[in-house]
Amino acid sequence: MKALVYHGPGKKAVEDRPMPQLDAPTDAVVKIVKTTICGTDLHILKGDVPTCAPGRILGHEGVGVVDKIGAAVTAFHVGDRVIVSCISSCGKCDYCRRGMYSHCVNGGWILGNKIDGAQAEYVRIPFADTSLYHIPAGADEDALVMLSDILPTGFECGVLNGKVQPGSTIAIIGAGPIGLAALLTAQFFSPAEIIMIDFDDNRLQLSSRFGATTVINNKDGKAVDKIMAMTDGRGVDTAIEAVGVPASFITCEDIVAPGGIIANIGVHGVKVDLHLERLWDRNITITTRLVDTVTTPMLLKTVQSRRIDPKKLITHHFKLDKILDAYDTFGAAATTNALKVVIET
Ligand SMILES: NC(=O)c1ccc[n+]([C@@H]2O[C@H](COP(=O)([O-])OP(=O)(O)OC[C@H]3O[C@@H](n4cnc5c(N)ncnc54)[C@H](O)[C@@H]3O)[C@@H](O)[C@H]2O)c1
Ligand SMILES: [Zn+2]
Ligand SMILES: [Zn+2]
Repeated sequence: MKALVYHGPGKKAVEDRPMPQLDAPTDAVVKIVKTTICGTDLHILKGDVPTCAPGRILGHEGVGVVDKIGAAVTAFHVGDRVIVSCISSCGKCDYCRRGMYSHCVNGGWILGNKIDGAQAEYVRIPFADTSLYHIPAGADEDALVMLSDILPTGFECGVLNGKVQPGSTIAIIGAGPIGLAALLTAQFFSPAEIIMIDFDDNRLQLSSRFGATTVINNKDGKAVDKIMAMTDGRGVDTAIEAVGVPASFITCEDIVAPGGIIANIGVHGVKVDLHLERLWDRNITITTRLVDTVTTPMLLKTVQSRRIDPKKLITHHFKLDKILDAYDTFGAAATTNALKVVIET
């Protein structure tokens, strides 16, 4: 089968690889129909994710058809159409029993990281019963690719952890796919103001169309002043960090209102300063989270009922044999205006 294989920092290739087999009775093999590329795949290719060894098939998102099931799989059958979750969960360990699937001691984020992933014609899914989701008949499968990772990430790490409330003022720093997923799902809770901050005018224009009430291009470094002015010096109730660099977290520290929450989503590779000398008396909360994907079934219902339309995050389509072009397009988002690229087998 064809697969996109990581060969160490800066190196990747499309290769013929053996078909995945069932290793455990709880496994399924899924024939991938659609997959996509995540910003995290670019982190891997930069060499930022040491758990991902050269030789690994990348990808942790997609939809497909169950091709084989192990003897212990009961919730899925050959031929079922499924969403692949970026998080594999055994459903039995202490963390899984607490709904913290991301820290499953037997799984977690392993797909396309510690085990071969979904940017291939077939993928082995461990703990299939608790790591796959049924696709309702007639669903738009492009939209459902967004449920593997970005929608639950924006919602769980940003919106739920940030306790977005009716009438509240929120700011989302970073208008990439994750920040935009937070923007779409924040609107479940009817915040009064949603401020998006980025450096990319195209992404900010999309943000306005997707429900942001104010967009700020921070190229001039004045976003903090503008937000403090528009909130009469108070700041925002929820500041969602959706970038993963020190500057954007510091922006959150600068704009959080007394009693507010900083909800971090970004993957941070370097030290970030925490200014407790300014924050100690402000009654704030800081949260961090690796996406658990516990809200995937709920989000699926909101997509099915058209309460949200994650398909609008898809900008490009490619065939699997052109996945290197898909990486080039996705990696040059500033010039290609790419958000999510869907790759079809
Ligand atoms: N916590 C989790 O479980 C989890 C899951 C998936 C992804 N992530 C992380 O979420 C982050 C966002 O992912 P993405 O795919 O949307 O990334 P992305 O790179 O596509 O988007 C980031 C956006 O931030 C903007 N930006 C950069 N610096 C900025 C600054 N100082 N102020 C304002 N905007 C700035 C960029 O222009 C870009 O549009 C990444 O760090 C990713 O690794 C976390
Ligand atoms: Zn991802
Ligand atoms: Zn577990």
